[in-house]
Amino acid sequence: MKSYLTILECTYCFAEYPSDELINLCIKCGKVLFPKYDLNLIKKELNPNVFSNRSSNMWRYRELMPIIKESNIVSLNEGFTPLIKSSNLGDKLGLKNLLIKDETMNPTGSFKARGLSAAISKAKELGAKSITIPSAGNAGGAMAAYGALAKLDTYVFMPKDTPLANVIETKAYGAEVQLIDGYITDAGKFSQNLVSSKGVFDVSTLKEPYRVEGKKTMGFEIAEQLNWTLPEFIIYPTGGGTGIVGIWKALHELKELGWIKDPMPKMICVQAEGCSPIVDAFLKGDDFADPFKNPSSIASGMRVPAAIGDYLVIRSLRESGGTGLKVSDEEMIKGVKYLSENEGIFAAPEGGATIAGLQKLLDRGEINENNKVLLLVTGSGFKYLDKLSPFFED
Ligand SMILES: Cc1ncc(COP(=O)(O)O)c(C=O)c1O
Ligand SMILES: [Zn+2]
Repeated sequence: MKSYLTILECTYCFAEYPSDELINLCIKCGKVLFPKYDLNLIKKELNPNVFSNRSSNMWRYRELMPIIKESNIVSLNEGFTPLIKSSNLGDKLGLKNLLIKDETMNPTGSFKARGLSAAISKAKELGAKSITIPSAGNAGGAMAAYGALAKLDTYVFMPKDTPLANVIETKAYGAEVQLIDGYITDAGKFSQNLVSSKGVFDVSTLKEPYRVEGKKTMGFEIAEQLNWTLPEFIIYPTGGGTGIVGIWKALHELKELGWIKDPMPKMICVQAEGCSPIVDAFLKGDDFADPFKNPSSIASGMRVPAAIGDYLVIRSLRESGGTGLKVSDEEMIKGVKYLSENEGIFAAPEGGATIAGLQKLLDRGEINENNKVLLLVTGSGFKYLDKLSPFFED
């Protein structure tokens, strides 16, 4: 397998680092590092048709992924999820071109599988023996599943009100789970203690450079599945921000490769009314978000009061001419019901949030019936039965 990975580059101060050793954040400024590739060489040696004959998972884009040796790939066949043209929901909302990327179909039931497959593959390649993260739920399950496959010691710190399914599956995969009385940011402090005291490698979202590489494959798939065209709007439920930031990175790489010609989509970041640090900062015109006080939402993945990649999400919204939206838990649940009743997709509240966001843009006249809109339905409702059951009582 030929690798085109070059260096790691800081997304803030542009300092460069070698990509052959374990590293977390930029040593100079403490911000997020991104892997870079020799895109000029890829452009000379590859064309996008090569992907069509490959296996139906995210590793079909391996030249644009950070793993050097194929045997280090830790995979459960994540990615290449269905991109569906809405059958009924579009009609109901008055949209002719509504598309849904169904991430519920991933191993472990959410898009988090992509990031953890990439991060754990790279951690294994660079010699990590043990890994730790704080998780709102789905990332913990994915981390534990890939950690089991890679035979790494895996530690997961979760808020104690994390959905039960996430806690049980994470334990079932053999991870050491600690439930924390607090939010994901508090869980992060416990995880960080383990890094400092025992040298365990930190796989927190955007605090290591490779989870985003798994998540960016959603962007590659959107383009490939639309025959190398793009939607006009991409609506994403945002917590830590790696999903939306990853898609934006992917689309830039595809542009630079000359593989897509369409204008870039407007990126729409949806957050919960009860936890909207990034949307608030964007709407105020700030570059960074203040920590959100007393965060609350049924969508545990969106209950992230402070995110290291806040400035990257804000950047993607500004550069794309997109926006940020806040939706209530009630609106998310309505979205979950809408998706289930109209499309047969039982989504997590985060997925329901994209419908709620879309409805707001339709009401405001910022999306019209002819716009091509893509919703990222990021995870399965099966993980949230304990949280959802009060809304489905007869
Ligand atoms: C189902 C689901 N959707 C969305 C998110 C938010 O994703 P990100 O952290 O990439 O913003 C999460 C995070 O836990 C999640 O589990
Ligand atoms: Zn830096």
